[in-house]
Amino acid sequence: MLVGPVGFEPTASCTPCKRAAPALWPDNEKIIRDLGILVYMIWQILFVIILVLLGSAAYAGIQGAPWVPTWKRDMKRVGGLLGLQPGEKFVELGCGNARVCRHLKQQQPQADVTGVELSILQYGVGWLQNRLAGSGVKMKLENAFKHDLSEYDALYVFLMPETYQKIRPKFEAELKPGARVVSYVWPIPDWEVMKIDELEGAPKLYYYER
Ligand SMILES: C[S@@+](CC[C@H](N)C(=O)[O-])C[C@H]1O[C@@H](n2cnc3c(N)ncnc32)[C@H](O)[C@@H]1O
Repeated sequence: MLVGPVGFEPTASCTPCKRAAPALWPDNEKIIRDLGILVYMIWQILFVIILVLLGSAAYAGIQGAPWVPTWKRDMKRVGGLLGLQPGEKFVELGCGNARVCRHLKQQQPQADVTGVELSILQYGVGWLQNRLAGSGVKMKLENAFKHDLSEYDALYVFLMPETYQKIRPKFEAELKPGARVVSYVWPIPDWEVMKIDELEGAPKLYYYER
C-alpha cells in the first residue's frame, strides 16, 4: 500500500502515482522491514534479560532455597527473638526482597542491617523497595557461602535444611562468640537450640547463641 501526504491518497488504479512513488513517498517495505528487525532485537534483549533473571533465581534455589517469604506475622517473632540493640550488626542470608530486613530496621533504626541475596531478581526487587522506602537497609548481591560473617552480632536464615547442614561449618568458623542466630522452619543440625518459639499454625523459630 502507498502512503502519501495528507489529503492526497493515491489509488491502486493511479499508475503515474505508483511510478512516482519511490521518489515521493518513503519506501514502506524498507520501513516495515527495519521495524521488524528492531522489534526482533528488542524481543531478543528482553528474552536474554528474562532468561538471566529466571536462571539466577533457579540457581539460588538450587544453591540454598527457592524464594518463599517469611510470613508477615512471623517477622515480629523474629524481631522479638533477635532483640537487636542500637549499634549492633545484623545479617540475613538469602534475604529475598529484604522484607524481614526492612521490618527489623524499622524496629531498631540504630542497628546496621544487611541482606545478602544470590538471585538477581529478588535482589533487584528488594533494592528498589529499599530505595523507595528509604529504609537504610544494605543489600549485597552475593552467595551467602562467600559472605564474611565475622562482624555480625545477629543473623537470620530461612533456607533449606540441607543448606543449613552445608553452611553450619562456616557459621562455626566465622561467627563471633555470643552471636545470635535465628532459623525459620528448620533447626540447624547438631546445634544446641536455646529457645524454640512456637505458635499454633505457624512455623517454628529456633534461637541459638554461639
Ligand atoms: C526461603 S527464601 C527466604 C527469603 C527471605 N529470607 C524471607 O524470609 O522472606 C530463600 C532465599 O534465599 C536465596 N538464596 C538461596 N541460596 C542462596 C545463597 N547461597 N546465597 C544467597 N541467597 C540465597 C533465594 O534466592 C531466596 O530468595
